[in-house]
Amino acid sequence: MTESIPPHPVLEEYYRVKADRQSFVDELFDGAARYYNHIGRMLDLGSGPMYRRQALQRAGLKPGMRLLDVATGTGLVARGGAEVLGDPRRVIGIDPNSGMLREARMALSGPLVRGRAEVLPFRSDSFDMLSMGFALRHVEDLEIAFDEYRRVLKPGGRLLLLEVSRPTSRIMRWVIRTHFQRVLPWLTRISTGNDPAGLLMRYYWDTIDRCVPPETILDVLRRNGFVDVTRRVYVGFLSEYVAAKPRRSVSADGEMRGIDAA
Ligand SMILES: C[S@@+](CC[C@H](N)C(=O)[O-])C[C@H]1O[C@@H](n2cnc3c(N)ncnc32)[C@H](O)[C@@H]1O
Repeated sequence: MTESIPPHPVLEEYYRVKADRQSFVDELFDGAARYYNHIGRMLDLGSGPMYRRQALQRAGLKPGMRLLDVATGTGLVARGGAEVLGDPRRVIGIDPNSGMLREARMALSGPLVRGRAEVLPFRSDSFDMLSMGFALRHVEDLEIAFDEYRRVLKPGGRLLLLEVSRPTSRIMRWVIRTHFQRVLPWLTRISTGNDPAGLLMRYYWDTIDRCVPPETILDVLRRNGFVDVTRRVYVGFLSEYVAAKPRRSVSADGEMRGIDAA
């Protein structure tokens, strides 16, 4: 049996036991859904949609492909995908949170599905690319999620994970922690009058601070059969993990499977 790798330990300041984590996260995003794009703009000064679109292009997204955007939230990555593909019907967004999906529906005309990364309701070998933007810290277990991602990707299909990583520089850590834990909660409270939005920012930093290191994420991807696994870092803390499902695989009986196996 494979070892369970939660992205971060139980954060008792927010929920008591592991089993309570997903319902806490669901409630948090439900409370903050209406303000999510507004908070995002304060965070990245409006560069977020362009960054997401360019990351998809860097990972190899091209017209004609089919993209699954896991943890689509308000649809910021999915919208970038629809722009690159030139057709919103070629992007499917999936998220467990009905509040976030309601916001996504206002901006996206393509299919939206309610569901979790750990149990994707799609057939195997269905998508050319799978993206997940800033949500890896919210899955229950990296092994289970990556196994699902590989299953639904076509042979040769590509995976793109965008994530905020704990900065290695102490000064940068201090700057980002202060921004997330003090400045943004204060700004969101005064500009939205909404407390869950401030709570979301505090939780955001704590999950970044306690998240498993990037090397573990890269290891778990490789262990789950992904190849060409890479991580690029922008501005010291924005990580782009890119990986591919092999074009051919060896089954338990030793036979070659996949598009190159003919
Ligand atoms: C920070 S938002 C990211 C939204 C979007 N991808 C973006 O780039 O802005 C995190 C999203 O992860 C979703 N989420 C939480 N638990 C999840 C799970 N187990 N599987 C998939 N998505 C999950 C939340 O509902 C939320 O919409």
